[in-house]
Amino acid sequence: MNIKGNTILITGGATGIGFALAAVFLQAGNQVIICGRREAKLKEATAKLPSIITKVCDVTKEKDRAELFHWVKENYPDLNVLINNAGVQKMVDLKKGRTDLLEGENEIETNLIAPVRLSAYFIPWFLQQKKETAIINVSSGLGFVPIAVMPVYCATKAALHSFTISLRYQLKDTSVKVFEIVPPAVETDLGKTSPDEESGYKGIPPSELAEAVIKAISKNQYEIAVGEAKGLVATVGPGFKETFENMNRW
Ligand SMILES: NC(=O)c1ccc[n+]([C@@H]2O[C@H](COP(=O)([O-])OP(=O)(O)OC[C@H]3O[C@@H](n4cnc5c(N)ncnc54)[C@H](OP(=O)(O)O)[C@@H]3O)[C@@H](O)[C@H]2O)c1
Repeated sequence: MNIKGNTILITGGATGIGFALAAVFLQAGNQVIICGRREAKLKEATAKLPSIITKVCDVTKEKDRAELFHWVKENYPDLNVLINNAGVQKMVDLKKGRTDLLEGENEIETNLIAPVRLSAYFIPWFLQQKKETAIINVSSGLGFVPIAVMPVYCATKAALHSFTISLRYQLKDTSVKVFEIVPPAVETDLGKTSPDEESGYKGIPPSELAEAVIKAISKNQYEIAVGEAKGLVATVGPGFKETFENMNRW
């Protein structure tokens, strides 16, 4: 895919991986729109990257998703890339029943339902665009091999990976390309309570991930595993591709 001249919407683009992607895409000559819930973080992003366009949006709220879609369509009709990046992560100890599940962020709403629903908004519009378009989902190496103390997070990422494979297959004869970014541990605010954080392991810098991603997109590498995530992705058995093709042959 051409990595220049696109108009790109990145959910959760004010911090971490989303912000690093915004920076490399701006640098490469694209228009970039980011969204997130915290206006202060969006303002910080604008201070660092003045040409960036921002929108406050909570992707877990249907009303916000609808408003975001219609706002983008009206104001940025050239938009041709959606990056579903917004994500949350927490430890969930199911021995405590529903306590961890109900406290704090809702991982299923943010990490799974939001990208599925946003994709459904944008795909019919992308199908009408005259140029190349793309949906890019940010999953995780933990979607391939889970860390059991974060059972819901890992399950949402496994589900997003599966959804991305089906979406790519559904759209294979169209102009809509479907990419998946599979990051390893990356040094961001995510998972401040994760085992990696407790052990002092910080992961790679977001900029390193973003550089690898933009290179892979330019080569039409649709499943982009970076660094240590490659080993996790490699645990998928050799028979997967053929079995998938057989099961979807009709
Ligand atoms: N860091 C890692 O090690 C790692 C590894 C694999 C995959 N990933 C994935 O990479 C993606 C980005 O995470 P990150 O590491 O860059 O962490 P991050 O810095 O915490 O970024 C997450 C972003 O998502 C936004 N967000 C969260 N909930 C949202 C909501 N309901 N509506 C709109 N925006 C929301 C946050 O902004 P607001 O709070 O202001 O809304 C924040 O900007 C996530 O999908 C994550 O699962 C990260």
